[in-house]
Amino acid sequence: MSGRDVPVYLAPMAGITDCVFRRLCFEHGCDGATTEMISAQGYMTAPKALEAYGSLLKILPGEGPVTAQIFGREPKWFAMAADVLTQLQLFAGIDINMGCPAHKVTGGGNGSALMRDPDLCGRIVEAAVKNTVLPVTVKMRLGWSGDSVTVMEVARAAEEAGASGITVHGRTRDQFYSGKADREMIGRVKAAVKIPVCANGDIDSGKSAVDMLETTGCDSLAVGRAALGNPWIFEEIHAYLRGEEYRRPSYAEVMATALRQAEEMAEWKGEHRAVLEMRKHFSWYIAFRRGAARLRTRINCAESLDEVRSLLSELGD
Ligand SMILES: Cc1cc2nc3c(=O)[nH]c(=O)nc-3n(C[C@H](O)[C@H](O)[C@H](O)COP(=O)(O)O)c2cc1C
Repeated sequence: MSGRDVPVYLAPMAGITDCVFRRLCFEHGCDGATTEMISAQGYMTAPKALEAYGSLLKILPGEGPVTAQIFGREPKWFAMAADVLTQLQLFAGIDINMGCPAHKVTGGGNGSALMRDPDLCGRIVEAAVKNTVLPVTVKMRLGWSGDSVTVMEVARAAEEAGASGITVHGRTRDQFYSGKADREMIGRVKAAVKIPVCANGDIDSGKSAVDMLETTGCDSLAVGRAALGNPWIFEEIHAYLRGEEYRRPSYAEVMATALRQAEEMAEWKGEHRAVLEMRKHFSWYIAFRRGAARLRTRINCAESLDEVRSLLSELGD
């Protein structure tokens, strides 16, 4: 226990943090979430009302504060996208992606490739800030590689350009998700800027949340992978930070939550698509349970919610 409760956010995850999953996380103590990333240029140049963007930007009643995350390279697209997203009056803020390591994103100089050019990072933030009344935040890594750790420069450039806060994932781009997030380094960034810093990377329990807070002195935490199949992680972390007891959900609760997520997906996207998109979530919900491996294979062949419902009921606590 650290004696210090702080906001705990759901980190953006493309293909995962849609409105249905976010709402579940909010119900379990998440304090803020981000859309999946949206190309600033794509959004500004795609034919209007393109289905993909409608889906990415959808917010459900009952969600808490949601920030729209945009990626790109040219400041002018960030300026335009920040303006248009603000006019939608849906979002609590605009977040700029300077962390995505995927080749298809960095290949165009976007995402974590921006970390190689702190001056450009500053100009991007400035362009967004000038075109919105919403807070602009930046999500960054430590740099491009061990030989190019630029997080200090990028954090300062973002602050000078008017960013309201930053999230630091304690890895370089060339680490992707390997190794351990460098908490010392996140702490050094926190000490170097005045704006709030959110710490991210490998927080997967109440204890690791406290360790992250104590090592970095950060203002808030962001949790990504540990929320997969486990929206209760936010309750667990808050309970731990407050020194309260945390009760793990029973398998019946886990199953009911997984099925509710699937039903809400089905209402939104139709049953067939929902079952396909939910396969990965089901396997996260049942991970670490006896018999999960065999069940996963069968769930991955299921075509209807009824089939999934009966398969899930084969496991127990
Ligand atoms: C499948 C997946 C998709 C991700 N998509 C995004 C994204 O769209 N934008 C972003 O800023 N970070 C993205 N991330 C990075 C996470 O937000 C987070 O920084 C990273 O997973 C480290 O946190 P964790 O250890 O709590 O998972 C993604 C991560 C994963 C695993």
